[in-house]
Amino acid sequence: MSQRKQEVRDSFQKGAKNYNIVAFTRSLGTQYEDYVESKLTIEKNSKYIQGNILDLGVGTGRFAQRLMKQETNIFGVDISPAMLKTALKKIDRHKVNFIVADIEHLPFKSDYFDLVISFRVIKYLPDPSTVAKEAYRVLKEGRVLIVEMPNKNVLYVEVPLLITRFLKFIGIKDTPLKYYLIINFVTLKEMTNILQNSGFRLVNVLTTLRLPHPVYERASSELRVTILKNVEKGLSQILPPTAFSRSYIFCCQKLNSHKQVKVSD
Ligand SMILES: C[S@@+](CC[C@H](N)C(=O)[O-])C[C@H]1O[C@@H](n2cnc3c(N)ncnc32)[C@H](O)[C@@H]1O
Repeated sequence: MSQRKQEVRDSFQKGAKNYNIVAFTRSLGTQYEDYVESKLTIEKNSKYIQGNILDLGVGTGRFAQRLMKQETNIFGVDISPAMLKTALKKIDRHKVNFIVADIEHLPFKSDYFDLVISFRVIKYLPDPSTVAKEAYRVLKEGRVLIVEMPNKNVLYVEVPLLITRFLKFIGIKDTPLKYYLIINFVTLKEMTNILQNSGFRLVNVLTTLRLPHPVYERASSELRVTILKNVEKGLSQILPPTAFSRSYIFCCQKLNSHKQVKVSD
């Protein structure tokens, strides 16, 4: 296992117990982020939720739990056993198939899944195309991958990225911004190319929130969240649909032969 992968696994091993609080329930703002992400990923793509479903980097199971229905058979893969242990505190282990594995090497046969999803995960991998290719392999023909990736083309990413790279260049690595050295950000065009080069046909791209995560993290009152929602609404009316999104949710279909569509940023 690469050093970077080990660091990612260790950090989730350490943070697993408090992950749900830190990521989703810490403030009204983070609860709202979770609501938006879930709505965009699950409700907007509800017609694809069926059969064998694989959640790549399932973590503490927020999507696995919401995708559980009578007609679905949920599989979740994660590199951190501690994250899966936390997930199994709220999910009945007989109703899911959780496996400790690396999503770059999936322990499943080809053409098995009806849906593959991955949220807040492949940004940890140096090369997202390895996961895109694995997802393509395990999906059945005509089925979809729904995957989220953070956007590089926003100022609150571009500026810290430049600063951290400069600091690394002059030998300073241990800074509060070191997160930016581990995370992989992509442009809309880059991710579209990665998915298309892996064989997928792009079905739709949804944009998530436009304001940065720390703003929501600190929103502790109903009033603040209401203000943020209205700012988001205002921005989405002024800006083009894919501009300045914090991240994108790509829905793409496995088709053995198809015509590719060109997407520009
Ligand atoms: C930020 S959490 C997201 C969890 C979940 N998808 C969600 O949205 O709540 C990222 C998860 O990806 C897992 N992960 C990171 N790299 C991985 C890899 N190479 N293989 C499998 N899981 C990985 C981590 O252990 C962690 O549980």
